[in-house]
Amino acid sequence: MAHRWTNDLTQADATPKAAFLNRRQLMAGVAGLASAGFAGSARAMDETLVPNSFEDITSYNNFYEFGTAKDDPKKYAHELTTQPWSIKIDGLVDNPGDYSFEEVLDGMTIEDRLYRFRCVEAWAMNIPWNGFELADLLQKVGVKPEAKYVAFETLVRPEEMRGQRRPTLAWPYREGLRLDEAMHPLTLMATGIYGETMPNQNGAPIRLVVPWKYGFKSIKSIVRITLTDQEPATSWNLANAREYGFYSNVNPNVDHPRWSQATHRMIGGGLFASREPTLMFNGYEKDVASLYEGMDLTKHF
Ligand code: MTE
Repeated sequence: MAHRWTNDLTQADATPKAAFLNRRQLMAGVAGLASAGFAGSARAMDETLVPNSFEDITSYNNFYEFGTAKDDPKKYAHELTTQPWSIKIDGLVDNPGDYSFEEVLDGMTIEDRLYRFRCVEAWAMNIPWNGFELADLLQKVGVKPEAKYVAFETLVRPEEMRGQRRPTLAWPYREGLRLDEAMHPLTLMATGIYGETMPNQNGAPIRLVVPWKYGFKSIKSIVRITLTDQEPATSWNLANAREYGFYSNVNPNVDHPRWSQATHRMIGGGLFASREPTLMFNGYEKDVASLYEGMDLTKHF
């Protein structure tokens, strides 16, 4: 690979905009990464992103299992027990089974990755995730040659996830990727933020992050991963196929039927902050455009 996607938090911290950061949290994050033995701060960077504060990232959330308001996840996600945790990995794999969280992590390299995150609702954040490449996990379990897609499911536990006591969505929350998207080195299984254990409201203990797609593809609190030869059903597509496609790549040229996707509001920028232009594939065009060569992205939205 000619370049890396990771960013140097120390460098980002040196930019003038860093005055807006919650310094204590940023430093805690860097220290946490260093103590965990990561080489994060020495990494090359190909852009300068300033991470949102830990407070922004953990208090303005979408996690409908806890309610539909932006502050519901922070209020109620502590009710979810995340230990023990296991993930069923099944379908077209050589080694299917129920893997404990610890077994999933075994052999994985946890990295820090500062990614842009763009919600389909036209807001955005920059989030310093910790996690490993999904490709490494898929390689570990062995993908059969017939597999073409990966399906994901979130936990169903209405006793602890109060939003699931209503049929807001058809639970479990489901998402999916084409196999080549899942194997892309940008695709992360995230286990933390700012070097800290993943907060429940952000999808503890483990969630997907696909930075060039709208945020709803980045499914939280995963309990099942299935390799399949059929395009999997996804929650938002099931809820409204006209508005939410399977691909859902960030695309400023294809508007949501009810609003423009050309710009977004940066969370933490204040009430009067100007909107920023949304970039094709959320700024990851050079990394991922080749996956969609020859596809009409207005039809496969
Ligand atoms: N995963 C589950 N299980 N349930 C959800 O409601 N919301 C999605 C995605 N993953 C959601 C989910 C949406 S719409 C977004 S924008 C992101 O999570 C929000 O992630 P964040 O709260 O960590 O910023």
